[in-house]
Amino acid sequence: MGRAADGSDVLVVGGGLIGLVTAWRSAQRGLRTTVADPEPGGGAAQVAAGMLAAVTELHHGEQMLLGLNVASAARYPAFVAELEEASGRGTGFRACGTLSVALDTDDRAHLRELHALQRRSGLASEWLSGRECRRLEPMLAPGVRGGLRVDGDHQVDPRRLTAALVTACERAGVVFRRGWAERLSVTADRAAGVVLADGARLDADQVVLAGGSLSGRLTGLPEEVLPPVRPVKGQVLRLRVPPVYAPFLSRTVRAVVRGSHVYLVPRADGELVVGATSEEMGWDVTVTAGGVYELLRDAHELVPGITELPLTETRAGLRPASPDNAPLLGPTALPGLHLATGHHRNGVLLTPVTGEVMATLLTTGEVPELAQPFTPARFAATGSREPVRTSVPPSAHQEQPA
Ligand code: GLY
Repeated sequence: MGRAADGSDVLVVGGGLIGLVTAWRSAQRGLRTTVADPEPGGGAAQVAAGMLAAVTELHHGEQMLLGLNVASAARYPAFVAELEEASGRGTGFRACGTLSVALDTDDRAHLRELHALQRRSGLASEWLSGRECRRLEPMLAPGVRGGLRVDGDHQVDPRRLTAALVTACERAGVVFRRGWAERLSVTADRAAGVVLADGARLDADQVVLAGGSLSGRLTGLPEEVLPPVRPVKGQVLRLRVPPVYAPFLSRTVRAVVRGSHVYLVPRADGELVVGATSEEMGWDVTVTAGGVYELLRDAHELVPGITELPLTETRAGLRPASPDNAPLLGPTALPGLHLATGHHRNGVLLTPVTGEVMATLLTTGEVPELAQPFTPARFAATGSREPVRTSVPPSAHQEQPA
């Protein structure tokens, strides 16, 4: 491919986890790479809990996505080892496993069904009685009726992961342009770069749109390439486990309580992350009393001792959801413009595989086989596009990808 004069080979729009990993992998392959973002490393990764939940978040009808999720989970240990080496920073990766528990008969039936689906899908999980669950995690409520032990669903700290990626990008020669990408430039029916809000023009041979839930906000995108992503709000709490209570939990503990997911993710440094609501509220990132109340109420039912812990932070972020909950990875109908967005609940989990897929696409023009079901073309073909074009408050511009 020809190089844009005075420009980059690759311009990544959006400096969240997905944009950063795309830029890092692209620079590693020798491409001159620029990232445009007002605040690289911000966005949904600053809120996300960082569960790598390929098995425990399996849903009926999402078996195709499962393949990509499992492939990315398998890459995590080597990915973080390479990234930690390249950046000199830790990522908080913790091979701790997960316990999904049931609090009543309905929950238990639901979890049994999930277990059967996991087994049919060839995934490793083990059914435990309530007593066995409490033996593993003594802080669990006496009412826990059973659970699924999934030793392969680990965690990473998305804030540390993001900081490591920013440093790795800098060391690999990625150029950061701290500005809001306002408009796509199109020259001779080909994406040619973007114009920033301050009027600066960034030229590039290839453009990757990795703007999370805001990916559809770039003006100048032809209608047929508008990414069908929408924001799904998640409110998340952070607590601290004082040394006297440690180890409070030794692995991620989760459940579905009254139809809502609640999870508790214990970090090695004593942070305990409790998430998350799932709300269709547009770009609203208000932390509400109701959201905090529901999370604490549900977490308290699982682990009553949680109310003793200091509450250190409440925050809301936006998952970039696509119509089928799977990411959009690959070329668009506009030559030179690619998408890496729509990761919904799996942005952190899918970071390693996304970087690999996008770097292959950027260097060879080909989408690797494992990502072929996830190209944007699947929406163009079915006509099931749901592009989002409502107005965004200026503050939401800081909220970039998951
Ligand atoms: N994957 C966890 C969440 O999106 O809440």
